[in-house]
Amino acid sequence: MILDHDVLVMGAGLAGMRAALEAARHGASVGIVSKVHPIRSHSNAAQGGINAAIGEGDSWQTHAFDTIKGSDYLADQDAVEVMCSEAPSDIIELEHMGVIFFRDDAGKLGTRAFGGASKARTYFVGDITGQALLNTLYDQILKAGVKVYEEWFTTSLYVVDGACRGMTAIDMLTGELHLLRAKALIVAAGGCGRVYEPSTNALICTGDGIALAYRAGAPLMDMEMVQYHPTTLKGSGFLMTEAARGEGAYLLNSEGDRFMKKYAPNMMELASRDVVSRSESVEIAEGRGTDGCVFLDVRHLGRDAIMHKLPQIHEIALDFIGIDMVTQPVPVRPGMHYIMGGIKTDVNGASPLPGLYAAGECACVSVHGGNRLGANSLLDTLVFGRRSGAHAADWTRAAAAASGPAQARETADEAFLTAEQQRVQALLDRPYTGQTHARLRLELGTMMDEKVGVYRDEAGLASALEKLHELRRLYESVSVGDKGRLFNQALTFALELGYLIDCAETIVHSALTRKESRGAQSRTDFPARNDTEWLKHVVVSRNGAAPKPTIGFSPVTITQWAPQERKY
Ligand code: FUM
Repeated sequence: MILDHDVLVMGAGLAGMRAALEAARHGASVGIVSKVHPIRSHSNAAQGGINAAIGEGDSWQTHAFDTIKGSDYLADQDAVEVMCSEAPSDIIELEHMGVIFFRDDAGKLGTRAFGGASKARTYFVGDITGQALLNTLYDQILKAGVKVYEEWFTTSLYVVDGACRGMTAIDMLTGELHLLRAKALIVAAGGCGRVYEPSTNALICTGDGIALAYRAGAPLMDMEMVQYHPTTLKGSGFLMTEAARGEGAYLLNSEGDRFMKKYAPNMMELASRDVVSRSESVEIAEGRGTDGCVFLDVRHLGRDAIMHKLPQIHEIALDFIGIDMVTQPVPVRPGMHYIMGGIKTDVNGASPLPGLYAAGECACVSVHGGNRLGANSLLDTLVFGRRSGAHAADWTRAAAAASGPAQARETADEAFLTAEQQRVQALLDRPYTGQTHARLRLELGTMMDEKVGVYRDEAGLASALEKLHELRRLYESVSVGDKGRLFNQALTFALELGYLIDCAETIVHSALTRKESRGAQSRTDFPARNDTEWLKHVVVSRNGAAPKPTIGFSPVTITQWAPQERKY
C-alpha cells in the first residue's frame, strides 16, 4: 500500500507528538509512525522534570549560561538562546493543556533543584514528569486529527532526487510493508541508548531514526558525547532520578563519606553529570566502592517526602533489589543515559538533507554540547519539536513536487517499495545459522560500556572498533527464527541490531577523532580540554558502502559566553 501525508513524523514521544501537533496546527495533513503505542514511548521514563526560567530572580540568560557551562562550551550558543528564551511559554502552554505540575503551599508552580543549575528551575510531576507530559500531548494530537500509525516499524527513509520523501514501514499487526510518502519527514525517534548495556533507556531505544537518517545521507554531529547518568540502579541500570539529589540526597562511598566534597565543593552532588559520574568512577576504581557501586542515600529526607516526591524510584528499588529507600541507601553506578549527538539540524529542526527534519534526542541542534543538564531534554523535545513541526509544515507548502511525469513517479515509488519488501523478505528467509540478534546485541552493549564509557583512550577505542567490525560481519549472518508475518518481533529485533551497530560505529569513530577531554568525552590519553584545537564539532557522514565514514568538523557558535574553566 502507498499512503500520503504532507508531513510524516517518525516517533511518538514528546518531540514527535509536539512536532505533529504543531504541523497540524499549521494546516498540514500529518501522520505519526511509531513502533510502539505513543504512551509507551521512552519519554515516559523521564522522571525528574523540565527546566525553564520562570521564577522571580531567574532569567533565561542564567539558564542559558548554566546550559553552556554544562555543555563544556561545545553547545551552539544561538541554539541555547532559542531553547532557554522559549522555555517559559512552552511549559505554561503544557500546563494549560492539562499537565498537573507540582504546586507549592501558596498554590504556585513549584520547582526543585537539578544538577549544574545555579537556580532551582525544574518543574515537575512527582518523579513521573515525562509520563504526565506524554499523556497530555497524546490527547492533543488525537484532538488535532493527527493520524497515528501505532506499532509500525520503519525500515528505510525514501530519498528522491536528493530530498527526503517519506519512509517504508512494517505494520506489525499484519506484517505488511508499506510506503508512506510525504513532502517532509521529521525524525523524532529518540536516542540509541541500547548501544550500551546496561542503560537507563527503554529496550526500544535502538537508534532507528539516527541510523536511517545517516544511511539516507544526513550528517551526524557530536556522536562521541554519550552521557553517563550518575545514579543508575545496580544490576538493571534503571534510572534513579537526579531529582533525589535535587531534593537533598547524598552520594556516599563505602566509607560512608560524601565524596563529592573532594570533586565539586560548591555544588557537591548537584555538579553536572559528567563531573559526578567521573567522581564516582574514581571512587570505585580506587577501592571506595562496594561491588562496583556507590550509594544514594535519601533516608534523611523522611518517609513523607520520599513517598510524595520520589514514589517511582522508591518502588523501583524495592521491586528490583529489595531495598526500601526510607531505611537503606541504594547502590548506584554511572550508567549510559543519553546521547548528546545526533542528526545535525538548525534551530528549526532542518537537516542538510532537504525535506528531512529531526527533533528530540535523535537530533543535534546542538544545545547540549559535551554534556546535557538534567531536565533540559524534556525542554529540548518541546521547543524543537514545536519549531520543527511549524517549519516542516510551512516548507511543504513551498516544496516542489518530486520531478518527472506523475506516472513515472508512481512507477518509481512502487519499484522502491517492492525492492524494500524484497530486502526485508530476504532477511526473513535467511536459513537458520544459529547466530542470534540477542547474543550480538548483548556483546555490543557490554563491549561499548567497557571500552567507550566514562573514561576512554586510543587503545580501548581502537579495540572497540575492531570488535565492531567483527560484530558487523557476524550480523550479516543473523537469522530470524520466527518466519511468520504477524507481529514478528524477531524480525524487528534483527533490524534494530543493524541500527545499533551503525550508531556504535559513529560513536567510536567520533571518539577516536576528538583528541581531548571535554564534557562526556574523557580521554585518559588527552586529559585536558583543548580549546585551541578542539572547540569544534565532529561531524560524521556515511561514505557510500565504505566501512569508514567521512569525518568533518563544524564550528561552535559563540554568542555571548566566552569559554572558561569549568568549576562546580
Ligand atoms: O534524573 C533524571 O530524572 C533525568 C532527567 C534527565 O535526564 O533530564
